[in-house]
Amino acid sequence: MRALAFGLLLALSAAVCANDEIPASLTGAKGDPVRGRALVANRQVGLCLLCHSGPFPEERFQGDLAPDLRSAARLTEGQIRQRIVDSGKANPYQGKTILSTEQIEDIVAYLRTLK
Ligand code: HEC
Repeated sequence: MRALAFGLLLALSAAVCANDEIPASLTGAKGDPVRGRALVANRQVGLCLLCHSGPFPEERFQGDLAPDLRSAARLTEGQIRQRIVDSGKANPYQGKTILSTEQIEDIVAYLRTLK
């Protein structure tokens, strides 16, 4: 089931991917930035803070392998979505995208608030 969903996601991203952007929401709806922040800070789900830092004063240990997530402010919504979906291209953790499309949209919505 998960493999099927992942294959679907890949097919979807190939279909809607214009250059390095995925302009359309993967769920057809806007994500929830509050849930997105929780996902990014979550050590079991997003794992983002393993490599990235960001505006999370409550999190003591943050990664310095990757740019501070506030740098995503210069990207468009579609570019942020693409970075998260196609993590093989955006970061070295190939095949590690274990987020649902809804979770991806929540994270995109959160990163858009960091402007
Ligand atoms: C294994 C380490 C690692 C993990 C885990 C990781 N990233 Fe990254 N990420 C990177 C690296 C390294 C880059 C820079 C790659 C590049 O510029 O090509 C990057 C780039 C990005 C960028 C583009 C930043 C910019 O300014 O261009 C975004 C957005 C991003 N990651 C979001 C996330 C989110 C959200 C998560 C969690 C769901 C996450 N990353 C998890 C390593 C990671």
